[in-house]
Amino acid sequence: MWLLSVPRMIAFGEDSLNAIATINGKKALIVTDNIMRKLGYINEVTKKLSENKIEVEVFDGVEAEPSEESIYRGLEVAKSFQPDLFVAIGGGSSIDTAKTIWVLYERPDKRVDEISPLEPLGLRKKARLVAIPTTSGTGSESTWAMVITKDGKKLELASREVLPDLVILDPRFVYSMPKELIADTGIDALTHAIEAYTSTWRNEYSDALSEKAVEIIMKYLPKSYRMDKEAMEKVHYAADMAGIAFSNSQIGIIHALAHSFGATFHKPHGRSVALFLPYGIKYNSKAVSDRYKVLAGKAGIGDLYDAIINLLRDLNEPLSVKDLGITEEEYFSKMDELVSKAMESTGIVANPRMASDEECKKIFEYAYYGKEVDF
Ligand SMILES: [Fe+2]
Repeated sequence: MWLLSVPRMIAFGEDSLNAIATINGKKALIVTDNIMRKLGYINEVTKKLSENKIEVEVFDGVEAEPSEESIYRGLEVAKSFQPDLFVAIGGGSSIDTAKTIWVLYERPDKRVDEISPLEPLGLRKKARLVAIPTTSGTGSESTWAMVITKDGKKLELASREVLPDLVILDPRFVYSMPKELIADTGIDALTHAIEAYTSTWRNEYSDALSEKAVEIIMKYLPKSYRMDKEAMEKVHYAADMAGIAFSNSQIGIIHALAHSFGATFHKPHGRSVALFLPYGIKYNSKAVSDRYKVLAGKAGIGDLYDAIINLLRDLNEPLSVKDLGITEEEYFSKMDELVSKAMESTGIVANPRMASDEECKKIFEYAYYGKEVDF
């Protein structure tokens, strides 16, 4: 049996913030970071909620790569305000934080690391969730995953119940993204689609969404990087499609390597994913070169690997760990940690090629020097 899990409703288009009117609630806790306030997004959403007679409180303590401690700080705000609605505004960190606070708010008997996809949580007795992404990448608004950092490791938590009741893809909320963030998050989205397409858990639904997402991202991400608004809007929807795709299939070794690297060297998720994308594709091509050909054919891009290298160059992404300014000594002294964290990651489980510790170490080594994976 396969299950397809998606948000209850996805509103998209320039007036999609109005969809808030379809949600009944009395008290909304906005979960966000202070940059969103500076950009004016919090005011705009607060105004819209107030028009619908919903009282608003804001928790703007979301951290990049959110820690467990930041979750508990938000939980305290929720406990005293008692919302019946959580409104996450921001990138994946804000949305993952809101999902996790929501779970603990409804289930005070649980700890963060006890959230499991195998155990029903019984959410929605107290509150529901609206997600408004302001980056086009993580897909968190449409996935049932939460990534939280604890003791220097990424906890990859999941529950189908945390899928939002309403997702708002209003392109106006991504027009202020800085160029670097457009590139990093766009490549993250592209990687979600590619890994979902080659995972051993892939299925017809995830395939369909991956194909469309790759086609759109390969075509429009370079224009989006140059701040073309129409292209930014297209990539915003494609990133959400890629989120639904991997949430209903699985990520793979690229995310496993990136999660490990990002947690060890404190690098943002999208940047880490972009770094390991070409290495993971080369490694997996021994197992799924036919799938890569089909995907590239659907997207009309020739050879997938070559097209991606060109795209990464166009977006000024670093092509090796060395390019990021991490010294050889610093990197290789942490090799055992890098390998063990990657091998523990969910991305390893359904990757089309079963990686050994030794192979994983070799990929990390190749990625440092920018050497093409040839094994
Ligand atoms: Fe990702």
